Amino acid sequence: MELTFKSLLLLAAAFYFLLRITAYLLIAHQNRIFAKSHNCLTPRRFPSSFLGLPNWVRVMRAAKRGDVLEHIASRYPTYGNTWKGRILFGASIGTIEPENIKAMLATSFKDFGLGPERHANFYPLLGDGIFTLDGAGWEHARANLRPQFSREQVSDVGALEVHVQRLMNRLPEGDGEVADLQSLFYCLTLDSATEFLVGESVDSLLSPELNPTGDVDGGKEEMSFAQAFNVSQTYLINRTRVRGLYWLINTKRFRDANAIVHRLVDKYVDMALHPEKRARKISEKKYVFLDAIAAETKDPKYLRDQTLNILLAGRDTTASLLSFTFWLLARHPHIYKKLREEILLAFGTGRNGEGKHPSFSALKDLTYLRYVLNETLRLYPPVPLNGRSALRNTVLPRGGGEDGLSPIFIPKGQRVDYSCYALHRRKDLYGEDADTFRPERWGEGIGRGWEFLPFNGGPRICLGQQYALTEASYTVTRILQKYARIEVAGTHTGPTMDLTLTVAPKKVLLRLWKA
Ligand code: HEM
Ligand SMILES: *[C@@H]1O[C@H](CO)[C@@H](O)[C@H](O)[C@H]1NC(C)=O
Ligand SMILES: *[C@@H]1O[C@H](CO)[C@@H](O)[C@H](O)[C@H]1NC(C)=O
Ligand SMILES: *[C@@H]1O[C@H](CO)[C@@H](O)[C@H](O)[C@H]1NC(C)=O
Repeated sequence: MELTFKSLLLLAAAFYFLLRITAYLLIAHQNRIFAKSHNCLTPRRFPSSFLGLPNWVRVMRAAKRGDVLEHIASRYPTYGNTWKGRILFGASIGTIEPENIKAMLATSFKDFGLGPERHANFYPLLGDGIFTLDGAGWEHARANLRPQFSREQVSDVGALEVHVQRLMNRLPEGDGEVADLQSLFYCLTLDSATEFLVGESVDSLLSPELNPTGDVDGGKEEMSFAQAFNVSQTYLINRTRVRGLYWLINTKRFRDANAIVHRLVDKYVDMALHPEKRARKISEKKYVFLDAIAAETKDPKYLRDQTLNILLAGRDTTASLLSFTFWLLARHPHIYKKLREEILLAFGTGRNGEGKHPSFSALKDLTYLRYVLNETLRLYPPVPLNGRSALRNTVLPRGGGEDGLSPIFIPKGQRVDYSCYALHRRKDLYGEDADTFRPERWGEGIGRGWEFLPFNGGPRICLGQQYALTEASYTVTRILQKYARIEVAGTHTGPTMDLTLTVAPKKVLLRLWKA
């Protein structure tokens, strides 16, 4: 009797494995036929011993040093612009081929998505928002958000002026004094984004210590909103790094940080749903993003998720652009001088009411400022790494064969990662001086399509591009009006970088001299 039970069990197990193996072979066979009918060839191999564990350890070491971006970029010259390998268990495809990125983001848009893993990984902080959703959920979120980025909304420089003035007030008055510009930029973009999104700024630039704890619930929190937002994002990127095992990284600190972020946003959602609770009356004229979407739907979780996703989109990216712009300008005095001349010619120094206030359209006309911002976005794209998952069997047009010119097969569920950081530094596209900060290259009449993707492309192109460029242009203009010269403070050279979902220099410490 016992024997029969055992053999039955064995038989069942054998049957199960046989079934799995047959299914596997069948799929492999079908995939081969699919690949062949699309003329796909295999991509170059990225060496991956022991299930890619050593590759993963290398990434983690680079993360500790603060040069993950360089580490990832260094694979491409060696293994080609598209390669396939393993990084911690899963098969990994990396590409910096504009044609492939264009296919994922535009021409084969329906074949690729953020994927279920990104949704599950980001969910504890971001919920069901525009940065986590695919398909109908994304379409709905995007359609609801789109009107909020109309020209009128994004050209309101008056709303920016008050926050930029507060930032200016925190810069040193004495010549040659040191300022930590990056911390100020993160406060600036948080203050202006909260005002634009929820109607009330968290006013972090007004608080003496810049990042006071307890801006939620009257001082009872152990982290400030800004700190908690940073902590949550660090967890999200660490979870991304362990791929399918993201759920293992789920500490109390992560949950606490998410809860602090949620509580602050919920406070504003509550006000949007019950305007009578508002302490300050918001003027009829002023545009408030949250109120606009609250007119469409009353679901508090939906409102929180949408608002938080845009806050993430708006704060760190623009702060990153501003930080790197000044990081670079301080190291290139002649470019600072040339840019300042353009700004003074257009607006004067702005002292004692001299000259005009920079307007939206006048800012757009500053050609050299545009060059400087594009060149900064090229060398340091705020969203430096990105990727998509195949939602069905599909192909990418480049990367197959020794010459990399044939299509490659992408099975359903496969992730494809791309690095804008590495793409933007390709010498065959940008020339031998691709690593050099040279804004003038943008005046040489070379159109940059899918070679330049700081804001992504296709149906999911950044909604806030205009808003971000206006905010950055306005801030740069105001600071350059006041300061004739800036200089690096301290001895650090290369930017060791903080990489979360966005990238920022570790610090931007500068000395400033007034005009
Ligand atoms: C320099 C500043 C900025 C950069 C470099 C930037 C870059 C990007 C990138 C690369 C994406 C695509 C993400 C992906 O699909 O994986 C994106 C999407 C998005 N951005 Fe920005 N962004 C910036 C500023 C802003 C601002 C200020 C806002 C809003 C206030 C904003 C709102 C959005 C939204 C809503 C999306 C999602 C679009 C969608 O999935 O349909 N961005 N941005
Ligand atoms: C959040 O991270 C950025 C970038 O690393 C940093 O400049 C900023 O000071 C941090 N803010 C807080 C409150 O920790
Ligand atoms: C994320 O990973 C880095 C690098 O391994 C580590 O130094 C850091 O403490 C981690 N952060 C969190 C919040 O887990
Ligand atoms: C900067 O890059 C954008 C693409 O994101 C392009 O449309 C624009 O023309 C560029 N500006 C200049 C001055 O080349």
